[in-house]
Amino acid sequence: MSGIILPGADGVLFQRDRAWHPPADTPGYKSSTFRAPKHSLLALGPTKSEMSGPTFGHEKLGELDNDLIRNFSQDGTEAIGQRMIVYGQVLDENARPVPHTLVEYWQANAGGRYRHKKEGYVAALDPNFGGFGRSITDENGFYHFRTVKPGAYPWPNGGNDWRPAHIHFSVFGHAFAQRLITQMYFEGDPMIWQCPIVGTIPDKAAIDQLIARLDRQNTVPMDALTYRFDIVLRGRRSTMFENKLEGN
Ligand SMILES: [Fe+2]
Repeated sequence: MSGIILPGADGVLFQRDRAWHPPADTPGYKSSTFRAPKHSLLALGPTKSEMSGPTFGHEKLGELDNDLIRNFSQDGTEAIGQRMIVYGQVLDENARPVPHTLVEYWQANAGGRYRHKKEGYVAALDPNFGGFGRSITDENGFYHFRTVKPGAYPWPNGGNDWRPAHIHFSVFGHAFAQRLITQMYFEGDPMIWQCPIVGTIPDKAAIDQLIARLDRQNTVPMDALTYRFDIVLRGRRSTMFENKLEGN
């Protein structure tokens, strides 16, 4: 098999462009070598239950699900950090909006620290920041959420590797078995270009598509900066989805 093929809404299959996505085994990103397949891949089509199973609806979301500044607050205190709004549009390969799609996001706190028992970074936890939220896209494919800007953090890859500030994204398709995962970076961040994970992406235009743009027009005065991050599900301008790397 030559690569992962993604079923579209109409059942049409889309093959990924490997000049756009990194190879599965990229030694600069050490753990990719452990995950990369060592044998030829087998094609497994989606099952009926995968295609017809339940998906999320708007009624499933809580009022604060898209507000990371408040959704983990212990005592009503808001999370510490540079306040911001992230929004964008989920699009298909023909630039058509994708409505009613579950978009999830998770991130480190303003100091670059995750709330995870295996976290090894010394930066402090914020008791009022959990780092996870979710939205469902509206009729026009838009999502938005409020959060604080995540800090850069070190990770045990090479001697002294650091991740640029980033937010992880997951987008569900028409069933739970269809899930794409990627990362969003911030315009103007010099750390992007020294990151071993970003460095696995062969095409600079593909990296550029992972960088959210500062949107001054939609900034909230005395409150929050705003960044725009659009996600393209398929086609030549597809967002680089990291959970599909295994299929390269
Ligand atoms: Fe991360």
